[in-house]
Amino acid sequence: MNSDGGQDAGRDAKREAMSSFDEAADAYLASDVHRAGEDLNTLAEWSADASRALDVACGAGHTANALVEAGVPSVVAADATPKMVRTATANFPVAGAVADAERLPFRTGSFDAATCRVAAHHFPDPEAFVREVYRVLAPGGTFAFEDVAAPEDSELADFTDRFETLRDGSHVKAHPQSQWAAWLRDGGFEIEVSTVGRIDLDFADWVDRTDPLAADRERLDELVRTPEAADAYEVEVEDDEVVEFSNVKVLMRARKPA
Ligand SMILES: C[S@@+](CC[C@H](N)C(=O)[O-])C[C@H]1O[C@@H](n2cnc3c(N)ncnc32)[C@H](O)[C@@H]1O
Repeated sequence: MNSDGGQDAGRDAKREAMSSFDEAADAYLASDVHRAGEDLNTLAEWSADASRALDVACGAGHTANALVEAGVPSVVAADATPKMVRTATANFPVAGAVADAERLPFRTGSFDAATCRVAAHHFPDPEAFVREVYRVLAPGGTFAFEDVAAPEDSELADFTDRFETLRDGSHVKAHPQSQWAAWLRDGGFEIEVSTVGRIDLDFADWVDRTDPLAADRERLDELVRTPEAADAYEVEVEDDEVVEFSNVKVLMRARKPA
């Protein structure tokens, strides 16, 4: 970001994220969506050959632990929220680091794999994040990445950002698969796999995890019944109950050239 205004907005977004995630660490530790899933297995399999891996924005530590379980001998779980790092290191055999994804406190070439799962929509400057992951990887190192994907249609993408922000004030912006691909390629990565998939979620549980204000909850409940939500989240409502709800995720495996 170039202007001071942009930097201030970025700092404000980060402060907001840290304070909300501080309270949510236990919920993320217990969350079924975070502690298991095909996406988690895929990210871990993609990184299993590494000897030293970094998980960026580790949350309660499930992805870092999946790397350990996949056989990676040394895993650093890094997050900007100190309580998340404490939760990860208290529950899993990983090292911890309090670290901003856009300014990683590690030497160039320190890791042979990096992961980041469902967190980058909180980062105000995703290009800085991509640059930093590239920098801390050794030549030949892999980056296994997953995030909420915005629809490629920009109006629908704006709708999803409004929707996600009501649910979670620390949401900054989701980006479409094509944008992530461009940032990774521009950052020097070779993209080996790029897919989008849907993850079915329990709507009430998804909303509860971030505990929004009552007014925001009401607005979310209205919005989830709109045609935009039906398109973006494949929502199905029966007898006024949300019976189907899913999120689109982008999954990518990229490599820093050897
Ligand atoms: C949804 S949780 C991540 C879940 C976790 N990756 C997993 O697989 O279980 C999002 C995390 O992003 C972290 N975060 C938000 N902004 C960050 C930033 N700029 N740098 C590092 N971590 C950040 C939050 O503290 C939070 O722990």
